[in-house]
Amino acid sequence: MTQPRPTVVLIFGGASSEHEISCLTAGGVLRAIDGCDVVAVGITAAGDWVRVPLETVAGYQVTDGALPRVAEDLPQAVLLRGPRGAQIGTREGDRLTDLVDIDLAFALLHGPYGEDGTIQGLFEMLGVRYVGAGVAASAIGMDKDLMKRAMWSAGLPVGRWVAINPGHWQRDPERWTAAVTGLGYPVFVKPARGGSSLGISRVDTPEQLPAAIELALRYDPKIVVEAGFVGCREIEIAVLQGRDGQPPRPSVPGEIVLHRHDMFYDFESKYLGDEDVTLDTPAKLTPEQTEQARALAARTFDAMNVEGLARVDLFLNPVGEFFVNELNTMPGFTRTSMFPLLWQASGLGYSALVGELIDLGLAQRPGLR
Ligand SMILES: Nc1ncnc2c1ncn2[C@@H]1O[C@H](COP(=O)(O)OP(=O)(O)O)[C@@H](O)[C@H]1O
Ligand SMILES: [Mg+2]
Repeated sequence: MTQPRPTVVLIFGGASSEHEISCLTAGGVLRAIDGCDVVAVGITAAGDWVRVPLETVAGYQVTDGALPRVAEDLPQAVLLRGPRGAQIGTREGDRLTDLVDIDLAFALLHGPYGEDGTIQGLFEMLGVRYVGAGVAASAIGMDKDLMKRAMWSAGLPVGRWVAINPGHWQRDPERWTAAVTGLGYPVFVKPARGGSSLGISRVDTPEQLPAAIELALRYDPKIVVEAGFVGCREIEIAVLQGRDGQPPRPSVPGEIVLHRHDMFYDFESKYLGDEDVTLDTPAKLTPEQTEQARALAARTFDAMNVEGLARVDLFLNPVGEFFVNELNTMPGFTRTSMFPLLWQASGLGYSALVGELIDLGLAQRPGLR
């Protein structure tokens, strides 16, 4: 630790579809954290901020197949800018009690309202240091259209795509169908700022396009349509920021192995223990491919100006070329998630990884980075 005994606020739950996964992560991180004082703030599914007792968070795990959630009936948490920096307090009627000075914010939130630059902006306004990517990198990483534009202009290999706003689709469906057909089928239709594969469909013919667009629009008013990577392998790399301005550190590559050809890595296979999917760590690649994948992941991390951590997801086509599918600035982080598993396979265990992220966060400057 760069500070004697820093106070870290863990923020988890949230109003996104990944609420329970975030709670699981919070339980894992709290049980692993060492050398810090911890304060826990849960965001309920309705979006309210509450103060959660540490014993409760430490008990967050899968129990008889049920996932943990932030309880609604806890005292309200208030995050404010105090005289010496950020503070957390508890609201009791019209009084604030139990005020604690915060050295570092660690948001374990996935998806919109947490991974997308919104809470990072709040931390910068409060003048508190925080773990992970800054406002712009988080926002760009969350939006599959902005992300691909940034990667493309940085010379990174990305597939072709079309971004569609709902007004454009309603006004001129023929024109947009033609644009999509120009990508070649199959295509993948996605909410631009989704996650966990929710609202994503594979489309094989122009006739299936309207229904796929309607589905994606239920999640996000902005959607992207991407050329399908057919017959490709899915390779993922966990990247950590370098210490003291050193280059990013890529883990060994892992592979999402899908055992059926008609499927993709959807919500069920990600979280519900589908036996048609296995996570291979490390991925079975040649030494040259391993180095290519790691170098591309590090280059992507740098080009996108990410800090702290990111998981970089690649496609490997049958002739041996890598493409970047996406970058996640707050990847799944339970003990059985790909990011910690990849670091485990690279020689850094879960507790050491959590300590590393805290150290990297404390080494950042507060405010504009
Ligand atoms: N262009 C594509 N070609 C082939 N498969 C794709 C493509 N885009 C997504 N997929 C499949 O859908 C999954 C989820 O898509 P992804 O873009 O990673 O969204 P999310 O942010 O929800 O994880 C991928 O892991 C992959 O299995
Ligand atoms: Mg993905």
